[in-house]
Amino acid sequence: MARIHIFNGPNLNLLGSRETQFYGTATLADIEERVRARFGVQHDLRFFQSNVEGFLVDELHATRHWAEGIVINPGAYTHYSYALHDAIKAISLPTVEVHLSNIHARDSFRHTSVLVPACLGQISGFGGYGYVLAVSALLHHLERD
Ligand code: DQA
Repeated sequence: MARIHIFNGPNLNLLGSRETQFYGTATLADIEERVRARFGVQHDLRFFQSNVEGFLVDELHATRHWAEGIVINPGAYTHYSYALHDAIKAISLPTVEVHLSNIHARDSFRHTSVLVPACLGQISGFGGYGYVLAVSALLHHLERD
């Protein structure tokens, strides 16, 4: 059993209807259901979404004594939030960054992640399945797979 906290940043609450050519038609609830179906019996999972940078920072701090690992889709904060970079470093938990779209094949401002240097690695371009891959990678890192 591992305790994994899955974070989603701004605009990801609109998944399902938001720019479906990039993000598909699955809602965030659908993605949560998929991850729970795959890992929920064996592992303890929590989900958190906010459109506010500081709320994401607060929740990262709050989970530091509960979670053993973090999966985060930081949305656009990926590209410029040093506050989230510092928060990930500050809590010292293994973290996997995930993106639905392949950020390296899109606008040039999306090619850079200021968070990934604070993470184990990044999964990008596999849609909602990327969350399954991210949890799987984290469990492997924790030697709990
Ligand atoms: C995203 C990619 C980001 O560039 C964008 O700002 C998002 C979603 C993704 O999941 O592909 O909000 O993180």
